[in-house]
Amino acid sequence: MEQNILELKHITKLYPGVVALDDVSLGFARGEVHAIVGENGAGKSTFIKVITGAIQPTSGEVVFEGRAIEDNSPQKSMGLGITAIYQELNLLKHLSVAENIYYNRYRKKHGMIDFRGMESDASKVIARLGVKIDPKVLVKELSVGYQQLVEIAKALSQDVKVMIMDEPSAALTNNELEYLFEIVRTLKKEGMAILYISHRMEEIFELCDKVSVFRDGHYIQTMDVKDTNQEELIRLMVNRELKDTFPEFISHRGEKVLEVKHLSTELLRDVSFSAYRGERLGFAGLVGAGRTETARAVYGADRTLEGEIWIQGQRVKIQTPEDAIRHKIALIPEDRKQQGLFLNMSVKDNISFAYAPHLTNSLGIIKGKKEEEICRQQITKLTVKTPSDRQLVKNLSGGNQQKVILGKWLLMNCDILIFDEPTRGIDVGAKQEIYELINQLASQGKVVILISSELPELIGMSDRVIVMAEGRISGELEKEEINQEKILELASKAQEVSR
Ligand SMILES: Nc1ncnc2c1ncn2[C@@H]1O[C@H](COP(=O)(O)OP(=O)(O)OP(=O)(O)O)[C@@H](O)[C@H]1O
Ligand SMILES: [Mg+2]
Repeated sequence: MEQNILELKHITKLYPGVVALDDVSLGFARGEVHAIVGENGAGKSTFIKVITGAIQPTSGEVVFEGRAIEDNSPQKSMGLGITAIYQELNLLKHLSVAENIYYNRYRKKHGMIDFRGMESDASKVIARLGVKIDPKVLVKELSVGYQQLVEIAKALSQDVKVMIMDEPSAALTNNELEYLFEIVRTLKKEGMAILYISHRMEEIFELCDKVSVFRDGHYIQTMDVKDTNQEELIRLMVNRELKDTFPEFISHRGEKVLEVKHLSTELLRDVSFSAYRGERLGFAGLVGAGRTETARAVYGADRTLEGEIWIQGQRVKIQTPEDAIRHKIALIPEDRKQQGLFLNMSVKDNISFAYAPHLTNSLGIIKGKKEEEICRQQITKLTVKTPSDRQLVKNLSGGNQQKVILGKWLLMNCDILIFDEPTRGIDVGAKQEIYELINQLASQGKVVILISSELPELIGMSDRVIVMAEGRISGELEKEEINQEKILELASKAQEVSR
């Protein structure tokens, strides 16, 4: 049998109080798409960072083409032909596509960068992907999906042999995703080894040849995708029985609490809707349809040009998030890196930040014991994986950071909760807990608004669905009318001219 192009041998990575990887050995073959799955905090990203040399393992070695890589670093691994594409793209948005592809490494002519040559070379690399992107265009002008293609083009321009993708699908529309899959299949045929991390089971079965399961820093096992199924994978990941259905919920639509009338912003046109106590209102639409913008406008995060917001029959002025919080509106944002978290603060301080005013005694001193207790409850309730509540949030895995945001907002005792992609990057087990939590909030009489791009989730977790397309509301579906076809039809209304 041909030797694996990449082998990891006995990799252990220790952090204070955390065994992120425990003696993991695993190899990857040319011409294969190899998925790595596991719960939040299982060690997937740590494993990737060891391969790219972004971090050094405590012990163990990375063997590439039969030879151990000495003093691994991102430059070194890149030089060998290993590249990683992360969910948070690394592009320089104000530079052109060609400049990004060849950043800092295009040959010079008489001491000057040969822009013409660079652009024509960039065109060739892009053509390999089978798309048309003008190499002169600035990256910021492209949709997120196309930006991801530029990342891939960049990888291809440097003779890559191993390509790693850490949750690449999170920001893509369905079309873009199909496209990405096509490209991955082509690269596979060309003999590249591809490592693919995702929390979406369907992708594993559609795209991957092999799948390896990690749990709690341990390597569990590797299987051929064709020899396994979703239940088995989930069982190996979480090591307990898990129902793959949405928790039962009977909605009792109560009084109208929120009414949005004729809201317009730079992106939104005349958005009107109402939300009621005890009802879970879903927002569907393609990426860019205006769902997040609607949430942000209601929350006072974006400037509105026109429109009114009414709460319990009273017109209110919401111009800043502080105004929104005063009116008991919470927005649990989708983008955990940029909003909602203080990465350099502890888990405890993040969770209690917004809640702290309620915790002060008459002298204005924060009641430490109470604070700790409440934080610990949130950590348990949301199964945040952390060695202690003093751990800095930046040291948590991506999914666990998302849970901290949730924990913080749930303590604020808001009346209207807007969840924007609450389970993005969250593992299967924790998803169930978040669904239960959302249901609990609705049955306590809160107004729950749910934005989600995962249709099964939206359908399973909404009592009514509003569909948006191009900044407008294109339709509304009552419980019994909610189904995938209807949603897709409404979501693609007037969507012919995309990008
Ligand atoms: N710099 C760090 N300091 C301390 N602990 C860390 C650090 N980086 C990661 N960890 C811990 O190592 C463990 C594995 O994290 P990792 O990011 O690899 O998980 P993951 O499998 O990628 O999870 P997710 O699906 O949430 O992205 C987690 O418990 C995490 O908190
Ligand atoms: Mg990760």
